[in-house]
Amino acid sequence: MTKEKRVEADKRTPLSIRQLMPADAAELLRFYESLPPDVVWQFQPFAEVNEQVMSKHLNNADDGEEISLGLTSRDGSIEGHAFIRSVRKDRPGFGIGLMPRAQGRGWGRKLMQAVMDEADRLELPMVKLIVMKHNHAAKTLYEKMGFEIKGEATSRAENDCHYMERIYRQR
Ligand SMILES: CC(C)(COP(=O)(O)OP(=O)(O)OC[C@H]1O[C@@H](n2cnc3c(N)ncnc32)[C@H](O)[C@@H]1OP(=O)(O)O)[C@@H](O)C(=O)NCCC(=O)NCCS
Repeated sequence: MTKEKRVEADKRTPLSIRQLMPADAAELLRFYESLPPDVVWQFQPFAEVNEQVMSKHLNNADDGEEISLGLTSRDGSIEGHAFIRSVRKDRPGFGIGLMPRAQGRGWGRKLMQAVMDEADRLELPMVKLIVMKHNHAAKTLYEKMGFEIKGEATSRAENDCHYMERIYRQR
């Protein structure tokens, strides 16, 4: 997408980033149920997607056990979700996914930056993630955000993912 077209698209659908609350469970469920199969192939953070699972995640975030930020449109729909799970445990895990219409416009980077700012505010010593080896867009974004490949992991096929970590550096 050219820069001019991107600016036009942003005028049509201005998006913003905010913390998700327990009251967002139904909308978060709608987001996960609307993701097309090619996005779900890369990004399937919940084994099951239903209102109970969404509520549990958002209640955990409300209790400070997880970080959960949404990319939302003016009409309130969720267009992207990024989170860190188990922030009080040894190896908190990051995830991010955007609807295709929100991708490639700089929002993924902004959403991830907002989650990492929160991780730094909480002084999380490390954050981990896995990314499929062929997912160059996500891998490049993660490297730009300070993650390094530390090994391999299995998702759909044996060792089809990079395992990455980001170590907190005091500024
Ligand atoms: C991966 C994802 C979160 C990136 O968000 P995005 O909004 O599309 O990306 P941005 O426009 O913010 O670009 C951020 C960086 O990603 C990289 N990137 C984005 N699209 C890319 C592409 N098609 N090819 C290569 N790199 C790309 C670039 O390095 C870019 O950096 P730049 O801003 O310096 O150019 C988003 O595309 C997505 O949700 N994809 C589907 C689900 C998924 O793969 N989730 C990750 C699972 S591990």
